[in-house]
Amino acid sequence: MSIDFSGRWAWADVHMGLIQHNVAIVAQRVAPAQVWAVVKANAYGHGAIPVAQAALAAGATGLCVAITDEGVALRRAGITAPILVLSEQPAEMTEFLVGYGLTPTIASTRGAAVVARAAEAADRKVPVHIKIDTGMHRVGVAPSEALNLARYIQSFESLAIEGIYTHFAVADEPSHPANEKQLSLFNDVLAQCAAAGIEPPMVHAANSAAALVNPDARFSMVRLGIAMYGLLPGPGVAEQCQGLIPALSLKGRVSAVRLVEKGEAVSYGLRRPLATTSLIATVPIGYADGVPRSLIDSDIQVLVNGVPRSLAGTITMDQLMLDCGNDFDVTVGDEVVLIGRQGEHVVTADNWADALGTIGYEIVCGIGERVFRRYQ
Ligand SMILES: Cc1ncc(COP(=O)(O)O)c(C=O)c1O
Repeated sequence: MSIDFSGRWAWADVHMGLIQHNVAIVAQRVAPAQVWAVVKANAYGHGAIPVAQAALAAGATGLCVAITDEGVALRRAGITAPILVLSEQPAEMTEFLVGYGLTPTIASTRGAAVVARAAEAADRKVPVHIKIDTGMHRVGVAPSEALNLARYIQSFESLAIEGIYTHFAVADEPSHPANEKQLSLFNDVLAQCAAAGIEPPMVHAANSAAALVNPDARFSMVRLGIAMYGLLPGPGVAEQCQGLIPALSLKGRVSAVRLVEKGEAVSYGLRRPLATTSLIATVPIGYADGVPRSLIDSDIQVLVNGVPRSLAGTITMDQLMLDCGNDFDVTVGDEVVLIGRQGEHVVTADNWADALGTIGYEIVCGIGERVFRRYQ
């Protein structure tokens, strides 16, 4: 046994071949629509730069991020593909948006004027995408104001309307009537713009769920997030997600073992007195690394030597303890799989999400910065 590359007995394996596999499946399904890979939030915890590179190599033609900094980091890594920033940014960030050749989202006349000024100052014509709020009610211009905004943007020499888009609130519930309503409002906006001679080349609405479920939502491109990572957008689209494979495994090694006597309990709060004398294995990963403290109240187990093991007590900030019962073979250095496969058993981020009443997105995004990502 050797000391791990990460210098720590807890890490995440991110399988680039599986990111590519997932992108390729969706790209084939949605063609001729393009795929733009959503790599915000450090590519949902998977690592923005390697995931962006893998997605582009697998056929994605652009990238989406949430904030300017994320786009700047991709540019500094040498990525030249289009990068759409998915909402208006603080005015102070505009020079970076323009300077690094990121594609701004515009949802207001104020936002348009700010970007136009920065583009003029840089003597650039900047492509922008207009965001329409068709029902998500988070960001975006109201459909009734969309044409006015488009005309306002057109009044600036320094701006070019490259795209127009919206975002679904319940795409993961395909039969929800709000999907049709949003799509219809979006199509109305497109028709109004077209009648006014405004027909941007990029039209988009679909996240993973909509891309997989609804051909009418694909337009010229889809914004592919969660499905690229091999996780489910929601139970309502499980069937359409068949063939996608989770790309991230969360692993560690046993760092200490001890025999704890029947009646004793383990960790803060001494919550669960042991029914029998048991081998307790410590793993150096905790809630600061994204293993939710509330897992103790679920039936989620952790794999060691191919066997599912229960949590023995409260998850601490940096470490957790497993009850290995009378399996006295478990020893320091044994590999631990929290998310992923070991032997016959598989535990997924979606299993954690189901057990905790949340979504896989939150689980993978929550994997902390100090968890070393090993790219394979
Ligand atoms: C505007 C926008 N488009 C696309 C996505 C990707 O969604 P998904 O991960 O469900 O594919 C997101 C993610 O939250 C988003 O905010």
